[in-house]
Formats: sequence, structure tokens, C-alpha cells
Amino acid sequence: MRDRRFHLGWFTYFGQNAWNDPLGSGSEPWTGDLHLDLARAMERACFDYMLIEDTLSIPAVYKGSRETYLKHAIMVPKQDPVPLAAILGTATRNLGLVITLSTLAYKPFMLARLIATLDHMTRGRFGWNIVTTAEHASALNLGLTELPPRQLRYDMADEYVELVERLIGTWEPGAVVRDAATDTYADASKVHALNFEGRWYSSSGPLTTTPPPQGRPAYIQAGGSPRGRLFAATHADSVIASTTGIAGMKSYRDDIRRLAAGAGRNPDDIKVLSLIAPVVAETRAQAQEQYERALASPGYTERALALFSSFTDIDFSQFDLDAPLPPLTTNAEQGALDKFCQTQPGGSPSPKTLRQLVRDSGTTGALDLVGTPDDVADMMGDAMAQVGGDGFLIATPFHRLTRVYIDSICDGLVPALQRRGLARSAYTTTTLRQTLREF
Ligand SMILES: Cc1cc2nc3c(=O)[nH]c(=O)nc-3n(C[C@H](O)[C@H](O)[C@H](O)COP(=O)(O)O)c2cc1C
Repeated sequence: MRDRRFHLGWFTYFGQNAWNDPLGSGSEPWTGDLHLDLARAMERACFDYMLIEDTLSIPAVYKGSRETYLKHAIMVPKQDPVPLAAILGTATRNLGLVITLSTLAYKPFMLARLIATLDHMTRGRFGWNIVTTAEHASALNLGLTELPPRQLRYDMADEYVELVERLIGTWEPGAVVRDAATDTYADASKVHALNFEGRWYSSSGPLTTTPPPQGRPAYIQAGGSPRGRLFAATHADSVIASTTGIAGMKSYRDDIRRLAAGAGRNPDDIKVLSLIAPVVAETRAQAQEQYERALASPGYTERALALFSSFTDIDFSQFDLDAPLPPLTTNAEQGALDKFCQTQPGGSPSPKTLRQLVRDSGTTGALDLVGTPDDVADMMGDAMAQVGGDGFLIATPFHRLTRVYIDSICDGLVPALQRRGLARSAYTTTTLRQTLREF
């Protein structure tokens, strides 16, 4: 019988938590403790991986100012995810740990060294969320004068990934000898210079680190535009998809699988996880009430508009809330724009008003998952049966990560999935790539 289980990841921020929520982490210092609790709970629930997002600027898109972002803690503050990944690695044994590192921010040599080190430190559980950076303000922070156009960013990223992989490959398998009798640590004939001279990047190599446990760390990618999807299908072990509805999930996954086959890859080697933001509570009424309360909270519309402005570099304060949006394109996150506007790539915009689109964006996920753990588990199972695979990436609704929410998922929803044979109940492999390919 076909394995009905699907993969589970969690999308989170190292920053911008539920600072003013009565059940939130309040004024807790940035020690990583909240994420340590999240990691332990996720491991108990046998998730595949935790993904920590990162962007490199305080947005100033909505109303052309940083004010809304700083006032409400939207996409700010943000701590560096690298040290967090290291401490999460020592606190866990099986959970995959994925952090976001931008090809615009690091020199390829530095990134290759960093991800190889983290793969060692996590014993083969590290993943790199490959982003090309999509905000103009981040490009300025990195010393550029403008954000390169999307096509160029991805063309550069193709070469970047090639160089990173070749740097990691400068140590042949078997290069580390560790022969005490001859006092030989490494066989110099198996460690090679690279002398890579690309169109945009160069590095002589070899890398200073030894080959990491996974050969190369796992790659995660979220390209949403046609060019982004091609990049994802070419390189990624897992693709994270922000879409709407079962049809959107299916067409995204089918597209990635078609592109992967076109790139000579086995589509089954790529796990497409769709973003969802479930709200679960003891009763349906309680879950619905929680959801409605968040939507009705003061300033919700402004916060949602500011957030979508930051993803898209489009100032949504300029549009009438009670009129449909005009057709929009962006050099920033096209995928996020399409999802918010409820358009298929290249299609016409939704006739809904901006106010309705904001309301629909409520849980930011592909499906409306509000109910008891059993209700939501059934809905996830039905959706996955129709889509054909491969799993879900949990995002916290309204970006309010609390320990109460963590428990509702890890000790409520996931056990309900496990009872139905839809989620892993025990880890059977050790590296992140093996975990992703387990079924
Ligand atoms: C679930 C998800 C997580 C993402 N995380 C990040 C991130 O941490 N940092 C970032 O710069 N971009 C992030 N992105 C943006 C993507 O890298 C990409 O730019 C976006 O999906 C738009 O696709 P496109 O570049 O093909 O237009 C994320 C996107 C999604 C859907």
C-alpha cells in the first residue's frame, strides 16, 4: 500500500515574536530559548525540519517609512540565525535545521565554509534555504546601489551554487586518512585547488573544512516566479510553496516535478511543502473565535498591508481598500504578490477588494485550517490525498509564536496526524536528506 505519510516542516523567525501577547514570550531576552523549546517539541513530534527565515533590512516600504514596521515589530527585530542553528544542533539529535543565507550577502567561499561547518556540527542535519534577496533596502545594506533584476539574481545564483558545491568537493572522499602510524591527517593528493573563474564569482580553493556528513548540506528553496521555480527544481531537496487552495498546491507541485524532470532529476527527490498556518483548539468554536479575534484586532489591516508591502516592495497604502487592485508586478517576491493578489503567475488579478484580500490572507496558508486537532488533521489528509504529496510547512498564524501555539501543534495536531498514519511517529534515518527521502 502507498505510504500515506507526509513531511512536516516549520517556518519561523529568529525575532519578531508575540512580544505583546498575554500568552507570549513577552520581554524574554534573545537567548534562543523560545526556539530551543520549539526544536525540542518538533523533535518530539518527528518533524523533518525547522526553517529559520532571514531578511537583511528593516523595511521602509509601507507609507515609505520604517515607522509602521518598528512600531508593531513587523519583520523586525531580527537576529542572525547562524548562531541559533548551532545551539539548536546541540539540543537535538534528529531534527533538520535549515537557515536562510543570501547569495547576495556572502562570498561563496565563506558560505561554503559556513554550511559545511554547520553540517558537521549538526551531524548531517543542516539545510541551506537558498535565497537571492528580494528587497531593495537589503541590497543597499549589502553595499550595492540597487537590487539586481530577478533573472540576473537567479542566473548569478546558479553559478554561485555551482561554485559552493565545487568548493565543498575540493576534498575527495577518502582525503581524510587519520593515520597515526604515519602521522598523516589528510592525503594532500586528494585535496585539490579549484581555480574557479566564473562570470560573477571566483575562488581558488580548496576549502578549509573537511567534507560534511551529507556530502553537501540539504538545499531548501522557495522560488515562486517561473524563473524562481526553475532554480528551485534544479537544485533543491525541498521546495517550500506559498500557494492558495488545493488546486494551487497541486499545480505548484506538478510544475516543480515537471521542471525537475526537465533538468534531469528524479522528481521524487524533491519534497514540495506547502505553507499552512493552522489554528487548533479544544473545540471548533474556540478555534474559530481565536482566528476571528486576531483578524479583528486593532490595526490588523495596517499590519497585514505593511507586511505584504515588505515582501513585494510595493507600498499598499496607496490603494483604495474598497476597490480591486490594479495588475501589479514586482522585482521583489513575485510569488508572495501573486498569492496575496490571488493571481496565477501571469494571470489577471482577483476582482476582490483590497480589504477582502487582506482578510483572506489571514492565516497566510494555502488552506483554511481552523478547528480541533482531529478536524485539521482530516482536512490536511484530504488535501494531501488530492495533491499527491509531499507535505506541509507550518507557519505561525499572524506571526505570533508562543509556547501555547507550539504545544497545540506538536502535542495536539501532530499526534492526530500520527493516529491516522499521516505523519512520522519515529525517526529512522540520521541525516536531513535521508529524512526527506524516507518516504
Ligand atoms: C515559505 C517562504 C519562505 C521564504 N523565506 C525567505 C527568507 O527567509 N528570506 C528571503 O530573503 N526570502 C524568503 N522567501 C522568498 C523566496 O526566496 C522568493 O524570493 C519568493 O518566494 C519569490 O519568488 P521569486 O524570487 O521567484 O519571485 C521565502 C518565500 C517563501 C514562500
